[in-house]
Amino acid sequence: MVEVIVVRDEDEAGEIYAGCVASLIRRKPDAVLGLATGSSPLAAYRHLAARVRAESIDVSQVRGFALDEYIGLPLDHPESYHSVIHRTVVEPLGLDPAKVHVPGDVLDGAPLSDGERVAKAGAAYDEAIAEAGGIDVQILGIGTDGHVGFNEPGSSLASGTRVKTLAQQTRIDNARFFDGDVDKVPTHCITQGIGTIMRARHLVLLAFGSGKAEAVAETVEGGVSAFCPASALQLHPHATIIVDEEAASRL
Ligand code: GLP
Repeated sequence: MVEVIVVRDEDEAGEIYAGCVASLIRRKPDAVLGLATGSSPLAAYRHLAARVRAESIDVSQVRGFALDEYIGLPLDHPESYHSVIHRTVVEPLGLDPAKVHVPGDVLDGAPLSDGERVAKAGAAYDEAIAEAGGIDVQILGIGTDGHVGFNEPGSSLASGTRVKTLAQQTRIDNARFFDGDVDKVPTHCITQGIGTIMRARHLVLLAFGSGKAEAVAETVEGGVSAFCPASALQLHPHATIIVDEEAASRL
């Protein structure tokens, strides 16, 4: 079931996410958080960090799994998702870095040509999530083409974590993090699959601004189809989509 909540702005969305995760951690101190990169979740992480500090919530046991990672960037590259998750989530929340994982962790910049290593990383990541007992709350952004994680249109809705080629539009969208130079954006990534994401117990998708309106409408009101990977959320028992007025404008 998809529940759509229209909010004033990213801060109001962030407060909702922070409230939900704070009460989860109180109930379950070793909660497993599904983490996303991109600009959409940033206010949510800020609000959660503020709440953790203000209410002295013990997060020492909290575990985390990120959605995706570029292939070919060393872990310490400032735009590797390993670095981004560290900067935006692990440090501000005070999480134990050893308990937070990114699908590329085991690759550490291995090139795509290191086929065997790259091929094994996906299944190993799904196993690690299963061993942790599954993800409790998975935060998601959405690409302008309806991708979640890096599951571009055409991705199997049953997919596990695996290597994908980035759509050119996604590389163009993400060039802003690479000096505006699309050629610096990696061509491949490793991403949790739609099947992996759907196993999380609660999905919270955040989208803001008119650029996301089309993708949000397809996600909520379009048919369930691999052409809009986010539309799989319609089949999830507990999915919450939090949008501002602009992102909701095509609903
Ligand atoms: C990237 C990430 C996605 C994210 C998307 C949208 O492609 N891999 O997980 O949802 O960007 O980013 P933003 O939230 O900045 O619009």
